[in-house]
Amino acid sequence: MNFQNNSVGILGIGSALPEKVLTNFDLEKMVDTSDEWITKRTGISERRILDENTPGSHLGTKAAKRALEDAGIAAEEIDLIIVATETPDYLTPSMSCIIQSNLGASKAAAFDLNSACTGFVYGLTVANQFIKTGFYKYILVIGCEALSKVTDWKDRNTCVLFADGAGAAVVGPVEEGYGILNTYIGADGNLGKNITAPCCFITDEDKAKRESENKRVLWMDGGEVFKFAVRIMEHATVKVLEDTKITLDDLKIIFPHQANIRIIDGAAKRLGVSQEKVFTNVHKYGNISSASIPVGLDEADKAGSLKKGDNIVLVGFGGGLTWGAAVIKWSK
Ligand code: COA
Repeated sequence: MNFQNNSVGILGIGSALPEKVLTNFDLEKMVDTSDEWITKRTGISERRILDENTPGSHLGTKAAKRALEDAGIAAEEIDLIIVATETPDYLTPSMSCIIQSNLGASKAAAFDLNSACTGFVYGLTVANQFIKTGFYKYILVIGCEALSKVTDWKDRNTCVLFADGAGAAVVGPVEEGYGILNTYIGADGNLGKNITAPCCFITDEDKAKRESENKRVLWMDGGEVFKFAVRIMEHATVKVLEDTKITLDDLKIIFPHQANIRIIDGAAKRLGVSQEKVFTNVHKYGNISSASIPVGLDEADKAGSLKKGDNIVLVGFGGGLTWGAAVIKWSK
């Protein structure tokens, strides 16, 4: 195949969230916490949670269908499906294969990518390379998470933060000069121990950290991740802008990973950007990991907040630990 094109961007975007809303007041009945503490320390008021019997891929499929419709592209035209997830329904088949089947995207290759909350930026980076080289033309990048399924609902340190959701983008050739201008991704596995969710292997140390019977729930050192997140969000944003040779003043809006309003505000302050320039929806959805950035993008796009030619930055950080940022000249 050869569709070589120098400009690659987002042709369509979609998202899907569970209907069930879990409020801070609901959590007050489950653990020793309060609406006041959660709101003040995280900015989260409510989040969306899947029913026990509904798989995460259900959301990814819905988001993908909406993105395809938005792009005006049929599932059969998709060359590759990349699902960024840290909560796949199965280790095998991958979430991407499940979604490929649900969509009837019969031509598409499919693989999952796990860089936790940075997953969408990693996925976009991979898609950009495949299309720029001419190897593929249309790629679905989906951030799809069901964190409720690895949450210890008795651990107040984590259960107030994480939730479920999916966001998807159809990535493909766009008008010259528009689309993804640059991406930057990084990782520091030495810091990985700060957020863990064991799977096929588990240490005694992992077991000791978890009070629940299920020793495979997510555990986090919130304070350490907090400090890392503020620092790395500033670093990744500055680095990707410098590499692209554009400035913060040239940006319409920054889409940060939505983990905690204090992390977002802290990073914005370090960058010296006003709050109006920073997209937030963490109050409604909590931390939905790799789905966070595409859900935000979809909301902003559908609200008409993004105009063709706007420069935006997507910036994420998370488990691994990983980080990444992308500069996009909006092409829709
Ligand atoms: N309700 C009430 N009290 C809580 C609580 C809750 N849900 N969670 C923790 N506390 C308590 C702690 O036990 C502690 O009590 P103590 O002083 O008696 O020991 C106190 O509140 C302060 O805890 P601390 O951990 O210092 O709070 P914090 O202000 O750092 O906020 C996080 C905790 C987890 C919200 C914050 O560290 C954070 O957001 N970290 C980053 C998490 C993240 O984004 N991870 C994902 C990255 S992708």
